[in-house]
Amino acid sequence: MLALTPGCQCVFAIAFALTSLGRPANPTMKAIVIHEYGGLEVLKSEDVPRPEPKADQILVRVIAAGVNPVDGMIRSGMFAKHEKTVFPMILGADIAGVVEKVGSNVTKFKAGDAVFAYVSLDNNGGYAQYALATEREAAPKPKSLTYVEAAAVPVVALTAWQALIDTAKLSAGQTVLIHGGSGGVGTFAIQIAKARGARVIATASTANQDLLKELGADVSIDYTKQRFEDVAKDVDVVLDSVGKDTLARSYGVVKKGGFIVSIVARLDQTELDKHGIRGATLSVAPNSDELAEIGRLIDEKKIKVIISQTFPLSEAVKAQEQVATGHTRGKIVLKVADEPK
Ligand SMILES: NC(=O)c1ccc[n+]([C@@H]2O[C@H](COP(=O)([O-])OP(=O)(O)OC[C@H]3O[C@@H](n4cnc5c(N)ncnc54)[C@H](OP(=O)(O)O)[C@@H]3O)[C@@H](O)[C@H]2O)c1
Repeated sequence: MLALTPGCQCVFAIAFALTSLGRPANPTMKAIVIHEYGGLEVLKSEDVPRPEPKADQILVRVIAAGVNPVDGMIRSGMFAKHEKTVFPMILGADIAGVVEKVGSNVTKFKAGDAVFAYVSLDNNGGYAQYALATEREAAPKPKSLTYVEAAAVPVVALTAWQALIDTAKLSAGQTVLIHGGSGGVGTFAIQIAKARGARVIATASTANQDLLKELGADVSIDYTKQRFEDVAKDVDVVLDSVGKDTLARSYGVVKKGGFIVSIVARLDQTELDKHGIRGATLSVAPNSDELAEIGRLIDEKKIKVIISQTFPLSEAVKAQEQVATGHTRGKIVLKVADEPK
């Protein structure tokens, strides 16, 4: 009979754990997972298989993940009718981290690169120790930012960029009214508009008036004390991130030929026609070139990142709870791992 010494048994046990019928055991990772739509209680911390990159993907070791209002909307099932649902699902569209592995067709990135990305949920999201991204979704992390700061950027900065630059074609010398200037999208929108050479009027509540000014707004409006239409008149562009009554009252402040872009509501064509203006509803899309351009503006100190709170990955519930208030100052970020040296 073969007798195993304790050391030998240990090696044998490790070898057994690493192999299953000769194959290496699948590595696992911690993630916040949902198995069904619902309230905050459906967010579960679990060990799940670590994803493997396909040919056109990179596997990122996530250091930090941004939290967006849309995460809670997806969790609640708001988009269930329109989206392909595959449970278990990992939420989180914003990541910053280090490339662990690249697929065979990837040319822009290599293992060890620092990246940030707006990842598509088709491949699961960023509330996890590892996440997948494509080259179209990722860009080099701005050197001047920590990973936590970088994770606060992609979705909201791309939304502001695609609304103001791609959709409304905001140009130097024009005036833009930015509703919700102190939120995730708004803080970037103010700075992108200023970098473009526009004059900025921005709205927020009393507590955030200082922030609007700090970000460069030429005029700040406290929407709890003042009707914005008493201050903002004949603007070239409105960026609406509030909707409802705020959008309804915005048509009248835009000059003829001007533009309203909403990121939360459909526009009323009758109102647009009545005022001789144009408008569109924007749905943000990943864009690595634009993300890289935003990264350059950040490294040139033309845009700064405002984070009000960070939470460990295990406290994703608290993070989503705060974001759901609709009154977040800047961004909320989940810290998944320590910042690499
Ligand atoms: N279509 C898209 O592709 C897209 C992309 C990104 C985001 N979104 C949506 O856009 C909205 C904003 O996103 P976010 O990430 O910026 O949210 P956020 O970080 O929660 O910010 C919301 C901001 O709105 C302000 N606000 C609330 N009520 C207001 C009012 N009546 N007038 C003016 N400002 C008001 C709040 O400021 P105070 O605290 O000072 O009130 C807060 O700073 C969300 O509904 C989100 O889902 C859509």
